[in-house]
Amino acid sequence: MLSYRHAYHAGNFADVFKHIVLVLLLEALRRKDKPFLYLDTHAGAGRYDLKSEMASRNREYLDGIGRLWKAPTPPAAVTAYLDAIHALNANAPALPRWYPGSSRIARHFLRRGDRMLLAEKHPADGALLRREFSGDRQVRVSREDGYQLLKSQLPPREHRALVLIDPAYELCDELERVYAGLKAGHQRMATGIFAAWYPVMPKLNADGLRAKLLESGIRRVLNTELCIHPRDNPLGLNGSGLIIVNPPWQLDEAIQGLLPWLWRTLSPAGRGDHFVRWLAGE
Ligand SMILES: C[S@@+](CC[C@H](N)C(=O)[O-])C[C@H]1O[C@@H](n2cnc3c(N)ncnc32)[C@H](O)[C@@H]1O
Repeated sequence: MLSYRHAYHAGNFADVFKHIVLVLLLEALRRKDKPFLYLDTHAGAGRYDLKSEMASRNREYLDGIGRLWKAPTPPAAVTAYLDAIHALNANAPALPRWYPGSSRIARHFLRRGDRMLLAEKHPADGALLRREFSGDRQVRVSREDGYQLLKSQLPPREHRALVLIDPAYELCDELERVYAGLKAGHQRMATGIFAAWYPVMPKLNADGLRAKLLESGIRRVLNTELCIHPRDNPLGLNGSGLIIVNPPWQLDEAIQGLLPWLWRTLSPAGRGDHFVRWLAGE
């Protein structure tokens, strides 16, 4: 039985980075009228109470959404992300009480006709997720293994899809599972957009994932990372990254434009670094 609960980490600096890139992806999909499927293989609970015991344990959100919430003049992409949080928090001058998970953020950007399919295996978070979207006919919550959905649900009837693969990295071979998931998903839908999140920490090296992706022959792979601690800091999570297969047009430039501001805001002491680069081109 896996024990990870995202409520301990909701709204931290890694969530913020992942969710802002997610918003960029969703906004790009919305530029065309045709409907799309949003598939979240590791969806979490949907929304998180930042006043809960779990979130209060380390108050990780203070270094994440806490830094962005009152930042003056955020870039447009950040404003769009903040709008999704404001939608859950009518009056929250100091800090939001509710932090939306990836699924709740995605729901904010869905149009009529778009669809969401969410997988969550933890019984408690799965129940919260079902409650969050109960009665919402555009959303289906599955108890299945999220990686299995990549095989059973792609390609979707819409012929357009954004897939978020966001595991908890409790298992030591999770990066291999991510690679297998990306490969299986891409085999079934070569035009799908896939975004896979990973932590940057000394004990977990994403170089193997990058090398395998290069060898796989999958084209159009973008990689971005944002660290707020030095990479060799032994303490824990130093940063996080995303592998994006088939990024929408000019996503690289959009991320490049955003990273300096985001890094300065999340790392006011100037620790860590950031990049966005192509792993494989056309
Ligand atoms: C990092 S959290 C997800 C956070 C969420 N995507 C967000 O951004 O708000 C990872 C979640 O995956 C769930 N999980 C772990 N293994 C899974 C699997 N094989 N299939 C589906 N869910 C899984 C965990 O219970 C956990 O809630």
